[in-house]
Amino acid sequence: MRILVVGKGGREHALVRALAESPGNPELFCFPGSDAIFEIAKPIPADGLESLVAWMKSNAIDLCVAGEESYLVKGEGLANLCELHGIPCWGPPKQSAQLEASKEFAKQFLVRNGIPTARATATDTLAEAVAAIAGEYPTVLKFDGLAAGKGVAVCPDEASAMAFLDEVFTQRRFGSGRVLVEQCLTGPEVSVFAAIVDDQYLIFTPARDYKRALDGDLGPNTGGMGAVASRQLVSLEMLEQIEKKIVQPTVAGLGSEGLPYRGFLYFGLMLTPTGPQIIEYNCRFGDPECQAVMPLVKGDLAAFCLAGAKGDLRGDLISFDDGWSVCVILASAGYPETSRNGDVITGLENTGDFRVYHAGTRKNPQGNWETNGGRVLAVVAGAATRQDAVTQAHAATDLIDFPGLQRRRDVGILNFD
Ligand code: AMP
Ligand code: GLY
Repeated sequence: MRILVVGKGGREHALVRALAESPGNPELFCFPGSDAIFEIAKPIPADGLESLVAWMKSNAIDLCVAGEESYLVKGEGLANLCELHGIPCWGPPKQSAQLEASKEFAKQFLVRNGIPTARATATDTLAEAVAAIAGEYPTVLKFDGLAAGKGVAVCPDEASAMAFLDEVFTQRRFGSGRVLVEQCLTGPEVSVFAAIVDDQYLIFTPARDYKRALDGDLGPNTGGMGAVASRQLVSLEMLEQIEKKIVQPTVAGLGSEGLPYRGFLYFGLMLTPTGPQIIEYNCRFGDPECQAVMPLVKGDLAAFCLAGAKGDLRGDLISFDDGWSVCVILASAGYPETSRNGDVITGLENTGDFRVYHAGTRKNPQGNWETNGGRVLAVVAGAATRQDAVTQAHAATDLIDFPGLQRRRDVGILNFD
């Protein structure tokens, strides 16, 4: 089987590794990829969506796996183009990927389908946003577009809200777009992933992401500074509620609204005192949740994704480890506001059997790994108990160093003890 994975980050490194470990020994390709990914998946000569799909067609690719969301909504859409050329794609077409690309589209979908979510008002100007907030704090402000996990501000007061609105409407930090003013929900967060194949679904091991930059959930929101995954993260009762109130109506809504879907769908949830509510959909696996979840997936992921992309949900092809998986992110100096490239990474050779996924690295001319992005590496350890997985993941992370390294030391610990 010849599989091409689209993306270049830590999530894609984890996906490529999991596919490489599938029993059928698939031949792997990647676009755009990274130096670390190219150690297991071949780079391909493409410079955009059209040439990528043309290359897949002429090189007999059996399956395209969408890792990164941006390609799903670029141009005509990765999955749409794959379909046009008869290439099975694990990832949804452009019209369905609006669930992630447009927060307003997602909100309307949720409301139409009676899925629990925070009340929200879409605004076009600073004045409209201020009117929608109506002096009620805390409030949540969301830029309506792709902003690499940085377009959301939970604002405790007027000063922080005005600062975010200024960034969006005056400085246009994320380009042009609207802002959703949303009711602030409370409760623990959990990321639930389902493989969706038309009207069927399979829920993967739930995970929790550590979104803030600093220990104690302090500092700015980031793309994610770590993750913990385990079936035991939520009770059976809660999982049942999530399935009934969130997953099933979503799958039914996709069907009734004519939104085709074959791929991973990510439900960002808040377990509020009145039950689970949706914060966001992402039309892909989470990053860094993928790095924590993938080591728990047993069986034949490659065959599972291929069957799914062809319309057959084959839950019998995979199973999930019962234990715990902890992923610690190492970020570069300046992250999340900026990132510093070119800092040489040491200690990677000491991490032995631990899984180290590369998110933002490159090989320098001397053959050493160096930083090349905000999130640099993800170190993952798995064990039967959370405590053991936590201890091992942090100990393995201690072995790695580079100038300016930032990491959290409470991943897997905060919100549990
Ligand atoms: P998002 O990019 O929509 O996942 O939001 C990023 C983070 O902002 C979430 O993981 C939450 O921690 C927080 N957040 C988003 N929406 C809300 C909300 N309505 N109430 C409280 N916190 C929220
Ligand atoms: N970890 C959050 C995300 O992937 O969006």
